[in-house]
Amino acid sequence: MDSKFVICWCVMSLIVLVTQQSKGDLDAEPKCFSRFDYEYKMLQKLVSLEQTIHNLKDSLADSKKRIEELSKNNEQTTQYLKDSLAETINKIQELPKKHVDYGSVYIRWGRNECQDNAEVIYKGFTAGKKWNGKGSGSDTICLPEDPSWFNYSTSDHQRGHVYGTEIDVEEPNAVFENKVNNQDIPCVACHIQKGSVIMIPGRSHCYTGWNLEYAGYVMTAFHDHPGPHNHVCVDHHPDFLQGGGGNNDQHILYLTISKCGSLPCPPYANDRELACVVCSK
Ligand SMILES: *[C@@H]1O[C@H](CO)[C@@H](O)[C@H](O)[C@H]1NC(C)=O
Repeated sequence: MDSKFVICWCVMSLIVLVTQQSKGDLDAEPKCFSRFDYEYKMLQKLVSLEQTIHNLKDSLADSKKRIEELSKNNEQTTQYLKDSLAETINKIQELPKKHVDYGSVYIRWGRNECQDNAEVIYKGFTAGKKWNGKGSGSDTICLPEDPSWFNYSTSDHQRGHVYGTEIDVEEPNAVFENKVNNQDIPCVACHIQKGSVIMIPGRSHCYTGWNLEYAGYVMTAFHDHPGPHNHVCVDHHPDFLQGGGGNNDQHILYLTISKCGSLPCPPYANDRELACVVCSK
């Protein structure tokens, strides 16, 4: 017997045995008719296997390339995100610096110091029209301690008048902490790094969410003196000008009381000295 035939027979038998055991599709299995046929089929298989390997290599190379591209893209995106984040952080850090340029101002009447959180713009003397003057300015002004001038003529012809301010109140006053009668009072312009500031007459404390700058009493002209006059909030613990205790009777500030009628009582009350607060946010 030809030994090659025997090998072919053995392989055939093995194939038949395996396929019968697995009960698979017998038609799908390649049949082997001769040694040439066997080798031809093996070769075909090898060629197809080689082709498959080749294809796999190609697609592997392709995948590698894509992964590289993706990771490159990823790196670029990460860098872009890092840059944007750094820029945003910078901008955020710049914000408080910029806010330093913003703020609000108010005059603290009757004091020469601002609160700790506020910057002094200037210290000054409270001033206004004479108590019995029919004209001149109706408002109270804070004249700086260190005036500077443009031209001046020293003429009193066709001029408005402004005088320093004293407080007039009967002592004991039962309102202020100290004796204040006849005392000339200073003022100070304060700058705060807050967006809003408001003087509220008729309140002894600020509303929720607002910060107290100072508290005091509403003061204005005596009710029976001529000419218009504004209201100012004078600190409840006023400082006095040195040697300013004399009775000059020039620009005079008086406590202000509420009067019932058109003003509802309660919540208001007759003849009660109005408190005031200056609040910021
Ligand atoms: C001061 O007076 C002079 C002379 O009349 C004039 O030339 C000048 O413009 C005045 N200055 C101001 C700031 O008004």
